[in-house]
Amino acid sequence: MSVPDRRPCFITTPIYYVNDKPHIGHAYTSLAADVLARWRRMQGREVFFLTGTDEHGQKVEKAAKDAGQDPQAFTDRVSQHFRDLAVTMGFSIDGFIRTTEPRHKHACAVLWEKLAANGEIYLGDYEGWYAVRDEAFYGPDELTESDGVKYAPSGAPVEWVKEPSYFFRLSAWGDRLLKFYEENPDFIAPASRRNEVISFVKAGLGDLSISRTSFRWGVKVPGDESHVMYVWLDALTNYITAAGYAADEAKFAKWWPAEIHFVGKDILRFHAIYWPAFLMAAGLEPPKRVFAHGWWTNEGQKISKSLGNVIDPVALVAEFGLDPTRYFLLREVPFGQDGDFSRAALVNRNNGELANALGNLANRTLSLIQRNCGGALPASSPRAPGDAALGALVDALPATVGAHLDRQEYHLALEAVMAAAREANGYITVEAPWALKKTDPARMEAVLRHLHDALRVFATVLQPFMPATMGRLLDQLGVPEDARGLDALATPLPGGLALPPPAPLFARIEATA
Ligand code: MSP
Repeated sequence: MSVPDRRPCFITTPIYYVNDKPHIGHAYTSLAADVLARWRRMQGREVFFLTGTDEHGQKVEKAAKDAGQDPQAFTDRVSQHFRDLAVTMGFSIDGFIRTTEPRHKHACAVLWEKLAANGEIYLGDYEGWYAVRDEAFYGPDELTESDGVKYAPSGAPVEWVKEPSYFFRLSAWGDRLLKFYEENPDFIAPASRRNEVISFVKAGLGDLSISRTSFRWGVKVPGDESHVMYVWLDALTNYITAAGYAADEAKFAKWWPAEIHFVGKDILRFHAIYWPAFLMAAGLEPPKRVFAHGWWTNEGQKISKSLGNVIDPVALVAEFGLDPTRYFLLREVPFGQDGDFSRAALVNRNNGELANALGNLANRTLSLIQRNCGGALPASSPRAPGDAALGALVDALPATVGAHLDRQEYHLALEAVMAAAREANGYITVEAPWALKKTDPARMEAVLRHLHDALRVFATVLQPFMPATMGRLLDQLGVPEDARGLDALATPLPGGLALPPPAPLFARIEATA
């Protein structure tokens, strides 16, 4: 028997800019992290699931100014929306970090001093293009021009910046980064993104400006308070602050390196190039993995504030329910690829897969047990030849789902459950347990028990995706609260267990716009 893996694991989302209220992109990155965190806990791992807000820099300073508020009061207010989002979306976070917290400023200062002591930082002058919206520097060859305005590849306008600045010797890290990527093939996922990063590094890295002097809203550079740290150095440091860096050695040793940083493709460069370089330069280990997911469009259109088609996750949940929304976001699009949000697609997934394939299966099975078995769970019985195909799929499911989640293949994990649910629906039709009551009650009981066993596995492995609804299904299946982990699947429920009357799990949604 293999030894269970009990290592602690640290899972992070990006920390979100507090310039605006949360949208679908924020909900999506954190949802993927939440499902993995919940799965790891079910495996018996100790998890630290972190999210938070990125509160410094020019972009936030400007948003505060536009709102007529002092930046701290502004960030206090907007940061709360992200805490609220975690509640609305059912995110099982263990920590929430804000970059304006003293513990974080301390960690930033210690990291800076370490980099300086290691000879990785020098003072110079920065002159070049900067996009406030991306909080990123760009080379002239990366820009396009229209109507006299220059734009970054992200579409953000750039401005010319010229000021004294500290630099990080990133140019010296290219070869070591390439070696690191080679030795750690799973560090960047998906593979297509890994290749992009490698090409970018191979093309040559310049030194990186890591401080600014033209505004004040940031972490002060230790020993030279006329500078504030570049917001990305500040922001990336959040991961180690929260893990205990420069504050609690035992805690840091426990959680660092992170198992995975979840990010969107737009911020991969910062996480896969700058971040491991900063860490290695400070003598720290890089995270084990960075996964860059794709972007959503809305009914085929790019999402943007100016088009007014931003998708509000709170409104989605209010309209479709939390679990159908969570299910749809991870089911519809292979994680890592861009995808289109459409109401019709959400309605189809909800009605076809949740309400029909899963919900009806549960309802039919449990209603038959109520009606034909007096609400008592039939005893386990050996598999007959007709039970083998479903049985094999069900037995394999926890390992299949686990293997997909290890690779962040959420859609494949869900497809595997749906394939087994389709098999179970075929099985109930072929076996027709409702017709067996008079002809072969023993076989009827056996069939219902096999279906119940299958439903228990589906509900167990789907808990990370749809925690509340699968909790209700497990209640209806009579599974005690302390028997809902993966290990508990090895112990069959006792025959004769009294089951509560079933109630529908998912509502069908009318397909009107
Ligand atoms: N503050 C930085 C991250 C610092 S991490 C050390 C930041 N913040 S953000 O608020 O802009 O975060 C955006 C997150 O939402 C990113 O992961 C981004 O990819 C994601 N999305 C923004 N728009 C999106 C879509 N339309 N679709 C999917 N995700 C998108 O970046």
